[in-house]
Amino acid sequence: MSIATIRTVADLRAVVNGWRRNGETVAVVPTMGAFHDGHLSLVRIARSQADRVIVTLFVNPKQFNNADDLTNYPRTEEEDAEKLRPLGVDILYAPHVGEIYPDGFATNISVGGVSEGLCGTQRPGHFDGVATIVTKLLLQTGADHAYFGEKDYQQLQVVRRLVRDLDIPVEIVACPTVREDDGLAMSSRNLRLSASQRFTAPAKSDVLHTVAERLSVGGPVAETLESGRKALLDAGFREVEYLELRSDDGLCPLDRLDRPARLLAAAWLGDVRLIDNVPVTPIQDNQPVQA
Ligand code: PAF
Repeated sequence: MSIATIRTVADLRAVVNGWRRNGETVAVVPTMGAFHDGHLSLVRIARSQADRVIVTLFVNPKQFNNADDLTNYPRTEEEDAEKLRPLGVDILYAPHVGEIYPDGFATNISVGGVSEGLCGTQRPGHFDGVATIVTKLLLQTGADHAYFGEKDYQQLQVVRRLVRDLDIPVEIVACPTVREDDGLAMSSRNLRLSASQRFTAPAKSDVLHTVAERLSVGGPVAETLESGRKALLDAGFREVEYLELRSDDGLCPLDRLDRPARLLAAAWLGDVRLIDNVPVTPIQDNQPVQA
C-alpha cells in the first residue's frame, strides 16, 4: 500500500486532530525531498520517539537565493514516497504552494544573531526563507517533536532560536550527520559531483577532523584554521567560502577554544558547494574540561 499523501492544511489538521483525541504524540520531519540515508535516519529516529510521524516535502522557493539552484533542485516525490513506505511513516505532507504561500502572503520570519555570518553571508535571505517555512510547517502540523540534521548546523541553531523566541510548543531534536564510508557527509548535492570530484570530496571531512583535533589539544586558532583552508585548496577544492570556529550553541566567532565549539566549513568543488561541520571539545591534560 502506498503512503497517504496530504496536500492541504485542512486535511492535515483533520487527521492530526483525530490522533490528538486518542492522546497520541506527533513527530514531524521537514524535508525538501530527494531522500538519501541522512533523511531516512531522521525518519527512523522520529519513528522511535513518537506515536505518529509526518514527513513534509516542500521545495521552498523562499530559501533559494539562486534561481538556477531552485530550478535544478531534484523533484522526486514518487521515489521519495517509496523510500518512506517501509519506515512506518503515517503521512507524507506535500502541500500545494498556495497552502504555504497563499495569494498576498506578506510575512517574513527573520532570526538575528545565529543567522549572521557563515551561510548567512553567502546566501542572503536563505535563513529568512528557512525560518518562515519551518514556522509554518510547525504550526500547520502542530507536532510535539521536530527532527533536523546536524549537517545543517547553522539551520539547526536558527530553528532552535525561533522556537524559543516565538514560544512554539515543540521539541527540536538534533540528529547526527550521516556519512558515506569514506567520511563524506550525505547531501542531495553529492549527486552533482563528477567522478573525480567525488574522489576529492571526502578530503573535506578529513581536513575538518584534523583541524578539530589540533584545536582540541590547544593549537592556535587563527593559524590552525589557515592551515585547514590551505589543505582544502591543496586537496582540489576550488574555493573555501569559510572555515570557522564558532561556539556550539550561539555560534559566536571564537579566537580561543574556551568552550564547546563547532568547526564549520563551506567549500566549492567545481560548481558544487559542500558544507560540513564537526564538534570541537577543549581537552586539557588529556581530560575533557568540566563545564
Ligand atoms: O533542510 C532542509 O531540507 C530545509 O531547509 C527545510 C528544513 C526542510 C526547510 O525547507
